[in-house]
Amino acid sequence: MSIDDAIRRRRSIRGLQGPPLEPAEVERLVALALTAPAPHHTQPWRFVDISPDRRDTLATAMGATWRADMERDGVPRAQQERALARSRRQVEEAPTLLLGCLVPDGLRRYEDDRWRAEWGLAQQSFGAAMQNILLSASEAGLGAFWISAPLYAGDAVRSALGLDAEWAPQAFIALGRRDAAYQPFDRPEPDLGRHVVRR
Ligand SMILES: Cc1cc2nc3c(=O)[nH]c(=O)nc-3n(C[C@H](O)[C@H](O)[C@H](O)COP(=O)(O)O)c2cc1C
Repeated sequence: MSIDDAIRRRRSIRGLQGPPLEPAEVERLVALALTAPAPHHTQPWRFVDISPDRRDTLATAMGATWRADMERDGVPRAQQERALARSRRQVEEAPTLLLGCLVPDGLRRYEDDRWRAEWGLAQQSFGAAMQNILLSASEAGLGAFWISAPLYAGDAVRSALGLDAEWAPQAFIALGRRDAAYQPFDRPEPDLGRHVVRR
């Protein structure tokens, strides 16, 4: 099958079932992530395969951060509870929960605004690394989806998992076997008139 078909066929599959991926399956996906294009010939990514034992502590720590944010935003309490319960379910029920982090390895340490650009390069490469995982999981018949919550709760994630201070949590990928009943959202048709201009 062509790469184009593989790219088109990948969807976010949020209906996941066990069993968790074997360690070798996780390592195969991470090895593919490590082939992503990256700035300055670096590999500024780290991945954590999070065991079920840690999930409650992790969901509680992330939830405390999110609750404080929602309180500041004036989100009604009942809405907070629904959002937190849904997030906890995603963390606790993912058969495999893989956290992706960025590290500043090999980035140029500018004292001025260029540091933000360097970090931006690393974040761009992180997206490429994650896409490798999502594509390969899809082609292996697995279900997978991206969860962005760790980016909003870096300190909580780092402390719940005992990660090094330099590891900047970016996102989870939840992985598992596909629930055949899960239907992905409709995907808009490409609208090249809107997305491409020529000058
Ligand atoms: C940076 C980023 C953050 C995302 N965050 C979430 C998320 O927190 N929860 C979720 O269910 N999906 C998340 N997604 C998945 C998108 O919702 C999904 O890719 C998009 O709706 C297109 O659907 P598709 O992946 O099936 O093509 C995220 C994707 C990206 C790239």
